[in-house]
Amino acid sequence: MAEKIVDKLFRGDMLHVASLLTPKSFQLIYLDPPFATGREQLGSKKGLAYDDRWVGDLDTYLPWLKERLLAVYDLLTDDGSLVLHLDWRASHYARVILDEIFGRQGFINEIIWHYTGGGRSKTRFSCKHDTLLWYSRSRRPVFNIDAVRVPYKKTSGYAKAGIVAASGRHYLPDPLGTPVDDVWEIPIINPMATERVGYPTQKPLKLLTRLIEGLTNPGDLVGDFCCGSGTTLVVAQSLGRHWVGSDISAAAVKCAATRLRKECQIEGDITADCAD
Ligand SMILES: C[S@@+](CC[C@H](N)C(=O)[O-])C[C@H]1O[C@@H](n2cnc3c(N)ncnc32)[C@H](O)[C@@H]1O
Repeated sequence: MAEKIVDKLFRGDMLHVASLLTPKSFQLIYLDPPFATGREQLGSKKGLAYDDRWVGDLDTYLPWLKERLLAVYDLLTDDGSLVLHLDWRASHYARVILDEIFGRQGFINEIIWHYTGGGRSKTRFSCKHDTLLWYSRSRRPVFNIDAVRVPYKKTSGYAKAGIVAASGRHYLPDPLGTPVDDVWEIPIINPMATERVGYPTQKPLKLLTRLIEGLTNPGDLVGDFCCGSGTTLVVAQSLGRHWVGSDISAAAVKCAATRLRKECQIEGDITADCAD
């Protein structure tokens, strides 16, 4: 049997990269593919870009996405998780596709990542959220609720004194905070943020930290096969998880490798080309 690949960053189509990897070895696969925006995504630095234009629009995009979701399904462990990150353009279609692949019982959560900042629409309500679809092969995937608790609201009476039920039982607040719900308020990376590397559509470290801490344990393997600037890989490494990343864009792979070296002090050759 081929050796299990870990802590490696591939340049190539995730479809081909997936075929190199060990089935049932990933505890979490986070996918943040192009959103079908119809735009060329340009970074703040020359060369940092990828193309999100689709001839035929969603009619081309959705079969492309489905083929790649099918390719990674077998890579998940029995209690592992896939989180697909999209926005209003395709998340509703993707949910139907994921229901087909995982079965409807594979759906765990639809997480809304709400953010502010950026421009405001004058013709409709401003679109200020992304959708993260969490699916698993298991009805009880790994979920570390205590690792991702958030502080109680300052106005919460429960947080101060707990609550006494009709039965007389006294429920006390958890010193770690309250379980986080499925609407996440996390700021986008603003132009002055220190974590900003200039790659278009770079996601915040805080978003990936919550997913990785909540859905995996130390030592687990995390995959991000549209890794862009490498946010997932940096967080996985920092939290003591193994990781595999890939991206079709050479600029993305260069950016992610630089981040892993700088932010995680990884040395040696971590990149490889995956022939298309
Ligand atoms: C939304 S960006 C990912 C951003 C990333 N999460 C970050 O924090 O920087 C989508 C990425 O998917 C990559 N991509 C597009 N098609 C791909 C494919 N077939 N295989 C692998 N990566 C692909 C693009 O090059 C782009 O970097």
